[in-house]
Amino acid sequence: MNELFKIKKIASIAAKEAGSYAIEKLGHITEIIRKRGHNDLVTDVDKSCENIVIKHIKNNFPNHSILAEESGKSTGKENFTWVIDPIDGTTNYAHGFPFFCTSIGILYDGNQVAGVVYDPNRKELFSAIKGNGAFLNSKKINVSSISDIKNSLLATGFAYDATKAKKGLDDFAVLLTSAQAVRRAGAAAIDLCYVACGRFDGFWEIGLAPWDTAAASLILEEAGGKITILNGKKFDIFDKEILATNGKIHNQMTVILKKTRADENNN
Ligand code: IPD
Ligand code: CA
Ligand code: CA
Repeated sequence: MNELFKIKKIASIAAKEAGSYAIEKLGHITEIIRKRGHNDLVTDVDKSCENIVIKHIKNNFPNHSILAEESGKSTGKENFTWVIDPIDGTTNYAHGFPFFCTSIGILYDGNQVAGVVYDPNRKELFSAIKGNGAFLNSKKINVSSISDIKNSLLATGFAYDATKAKKGLDDFAVLLTSAQAVRRAGAAAIDLCYVACGRFDGFWEIGLAPWDTAAASLILEEAGGKITILNGKKFDIFDKEILATNGKIHNQMTVILKKTRADENNN
């Protein structure tokens, strides 16, 4: 257990250093590369932030494995794996829209055991250790108590691949008329943390990667939230879709999302 507190401490230091670097370089990007399509960007700052996080891991836990968005996998002798998104919200970052974060999730034998998400614009550090609750800076956080979807504030995101985005748009249309409002801010890890601290009541997205959800889905669970895939079945960070709520509106969202899919199949 002590090991997990040390891991969370190092992850927090690493995420804060990466976040400060991102703020320092905001507006001074020197390189933008398109990864899998015109809209899927990576900047020199994403890579440098990732190197900052990896430096801390290697200095403190040289035998841990790493799965990082920009540099891929490296396998160590111990059973811990660090899953890194150096900048979640790169499109926002490239445009100077202040909604991005560094996300670091830690797995033991493939199971989520700790996670931190740092938003350097607001200096907000969301964190959790399995079984120990979720925190925003030093304050314990909990999901909201909204129980009727029509009073809820929801969030979503859309995949860079427009063919996958189409499904999300159908869901968006239906949920927009079911909820009080829906937001699309462009950083899935922050969206999930906002459900964890009650700013949002639910979040869904299709087309995600493990580094988007590895830290924040644990933070949300530890804050009392519920996470599944869209049809209500068990979620794993390697699943590409997520439905994450305060728990109270989960069934209402699953019913709506199942219906959108049934309607699509009938058309
Ligand atoms: C993206 C953001 C965005 C979500 C995309 C992700 P990136 O991550 O989380 O909100 O809609 O699906 O890929 O590329 O900025 O790290
Ligand atoms: Ca991401
Ligand atoms: Ca990223």
